[in-house]
Amino acid sequence: MRILIFLILSLLATVSLGQYSCSNPCYGNMCCSTPSNNEYYLTTFCDESTACGTPCSAQTYFTADSQRFGCGVTLTICSASGGSTTTGGTGSAGTSSSSSGSGSGSGSGSGSASSGSGSGSSSGSGSGSSSSGSGSGSSSGSGSGSGSGSGSTMEIGGFYGVCVKAVTIDAGPNISVEEEAGMAIIDASSQVCQDLFGSSSCGWSDKRAITAVQSSLEDGFPVNTPFNVTFEEFNKIVYSGMILKDQCSSKNDCKFNKQN
Ligand SMILES: *[C@@H]1O[C@H](CO)[C@@H](O)[C@H](O)[C@H]1NC(C)=O
Ligand SMILES: *[C@@H]1O[C@H](CO)[C@@H](O)[C@H](O)[C@H]1NC(C)=O
Repeated sequence: MRILIFLILSLLATVSLGQYSCSNPCYGNMCCSTPSNNEYYLTTFCDESTACGTPCSAQTYFTADSQRFGCGVTLTICSASGGSTTTGGTGSAGTSSSSSGSGSGSGSGSGSASSGSGSGSSSGSGSGSSSSGSGSGSSSGSGSGSGSGSGSTMEIGGFYGVCVKAVTIDAGPNISVEEEAGMAIIDASSQVCQDLFGSSSCGWSDKRAITAVQSSLEDGFPVNTPFNVTFEEFNKIVYSGMILKDQCSSKNDCKFNKQN
């Protein structure tokens, strides 16, 4: 118990201190690793001269971080509970309709008759066929069902938040900004900040929390416009991002190994 409490406390301490550590610093002043929980802060930028060659004025939905993902890679960026931060709260946990735990108990009783040839099933009617055997079968079924509805199942159909897709056009940010923020950062276009947080500019000190994963323009979710997702859809997006990452690394064919 003491150990558990200690573990919880140290976990809280780690979280609240927001210790940022980059497992793969690269190019002198950047971080090439992606956090395993896919969580970042969102900041905004616009540069005409970019690492991938596309000027920011040529795109509405773009990001930096090409050192992490490669150039021309589509990211899906999401903010939980949708839009302008703390006000609404219609998101996350609230909207679940019903979680039903269903327990099904099946009891099987078998009655065996002693000497006769009667076998009773359920109703317990034994019929002695030949002479004098009387079999009595008694079947007692006891079903104990324990249903467990957990919070996560409740949230599956509920509203998670809002997402947009954006394409990587530049490298950055400077790792010193991430260290100062205590968090990895996705540096993106003004429109991304507008769509997710209702503000045209996001700075690192605003601590706009997002998740970002690699995605594809053809995954069925809209392009060039924000879209709302349920928890289930969000999980799919994260899962697809993981697959894309695994696929390219198993082939040693990730874009971030090729460009920049
Ligand atoms: C990154 O930050 C460091 C420390 O603040 C600074 O010396 C360096 O010039 C910055 N690099 C870029 C590309 O801005
Ligand atoms: C997402 O949901 C919010 C809250 O329900 C709504 O105000 C907003 O218009 C929706 N946005 C999109 C892009 O559907």
